[in-house]
Amino acid sequence: GKEQTGRHDRYDLVVVANRLPVDFSVRPGGGVDWQRSPGGLVTALEPVMQHADGAWVGWSGAPDLASDPFDADGMRLVPVTLSESEIERYYEGFSNDTLWPLYHDVVSTPAYHRQWWDAYRRVNQRFAEAAAAQAADGAVVWVHDYQLQLVPRLLRELRPDLRIGFFDHIPFPPVELFQQLPWRRQIVEGLLGADLVGFQRGGDASNFIRAVRRLTDYTTRGPIVTMDEGRGRQSGTAARHVRAGAFPISIDATRFDALARTPEVQTRAKEIRAELGDPDVVMLGVDRLDYTKGIRHRIKAYGELLGDGRIDAARTTLVQVASPSRENVGAYQELRQQVEVLVGRINGEFGELGHSAIHYLHHSYPPEEMAALYLAADVMLVTSLRDGMNLVAKEYIAARSDEQGVLVLSEFTGAADELGAGPVLINPHDIEGTKDAIVTAARMTAREQRRRMRRLRRKVIADDVAKWSHTFLGVLQAMPRRTSPHAPA
Ligand code: G6P
Repeated sequence: GKEQTGRHDRYDLVVVANRLPVDFSVRPGGGVDWQRSPGGLVTALEPVMQHADGAWVGWSGAPDLASDPFDADGMRLVPVTLSESEIERYYEGFSNDTLWPLYHDVVSTPAYHRQWWDAYRRVNQRFAEAAAAQAADGAVVWVHDYQLQLVPRLLRELRPDLRIGFFDHIPFPPVELFQQLPWRRQIVEGLLGADLVGFQRGGDASNFIRAVRRLTDYTTRGPIVTMDEGRGRQSGTAARHVRAGAFPISIDATRFDALARTPEVQTRAKEIRAELGDPDVVMLGVDRLDYTKGIRHRIKAYGELLGDGRIDAARTTLVQVASPSRENVGAYQELRQQVEVLVGRINGEFGELGHSAIHYLHHSYPPEEMAALYLAADVMLVTSLRDGMNLVAKEYIAARSDEQGVLVLSEFTGAADELGAGPVLINPHDIEGTKDAIVTAARMTAREQRRRMRRLRRKVIADDVAKWSHTFLGVLQAMPRRTSPHAPA
């Protein structure tokens, strides 16, 4: 509930993420447009916050946009302002050209710049202050993702009364890679400001614990780190414990399932197949246009199958939705070039008048259209080279109440850890293996599809995002409180 303190409301639950769930853009005339923000974090957190009476602290997506807190879609949104140079250094630079590639197995080379790090620290401080201003006494503050890894410690310094949780939506790398980072120690210390540090997979949590052991002097026991904070017994301060653990994220599966069952979406799905020229097999890829997603590997495998004749070019179509992402970052611009050249080449070679081998769509679409696309797709291709979870895979499953469709899924996703034997698993680096998997998926009998999809649906519907957030917040609330005689009143 809310607690009135003067003019301000303060909240018992405060979520802090780089982005708000809505993305603002300023029109040339000065007006403001807004759309839903991209990516898995917002997909997962939005339904959680719509059901909780909490505040969401985040950036609006536009430069220099200052606005008071406001309510939207049943959520209290608290904008944090970033200048143009902070967007360049903190967001495009340190977050998305240093941490993002480093945390995804250096599939692109991370750049290390001191000015970017300085901006990252400054902006993390601003987020910590904004969260501190929203939190009621003893509130829970839940900090999200790689853009804000210093916030837990900064926030604890401002507000030792809070319970602080952190969840990392992307992989946490092996220490052998992590230790490239010139500021590795500060990042680990930043995260250890939390009481609970959550990851997608058990492997991410153990990578983090190994980094703590390698880079700090704190003692660890299993998933627990003990922080003595240099005060010793005389001060009467008990040691503080930090727990690391796996909390695989999910979607609002019931809501997505219901959306995909609406007559509008069902009709639209049939329409899509008709518009594609009623091919025998529709394959689908849905990704932010990101080099971690293995889009080139997927298209290469598909193109070779058309060339081999193992897949009939006249009767098959691949729809690739690649939503625009981080377009000011060089590696993303290069990827776009490469993908578009590849798509052009394959369409030139295998297309006919009235039939494209690949429909490449550099747009993002609302959930209704996505649900229709999932229903229209016989084979869903998720080929990430590394991916924290991949919620597109879960959306595809949630949409298929007809228990048809095959999910081809990379081993290097968090989803593969969770979904076990239901998907056709691939190593996207292995182009031959990926081609075989695509053929297997395209030829799978309706009966076998049903057997697998049933399993997948049971899992995704049971382990939904409400369960994820309850589990995380439950573990956080159950952490023993340190009682300190010196804590400020
Ligand atoms: C991933 C990250 C999120 C991020 C999203 C979209 O899902 O885990 O933190 O918000 O991608 O990326 P963007 O840079 O547009 O916020």
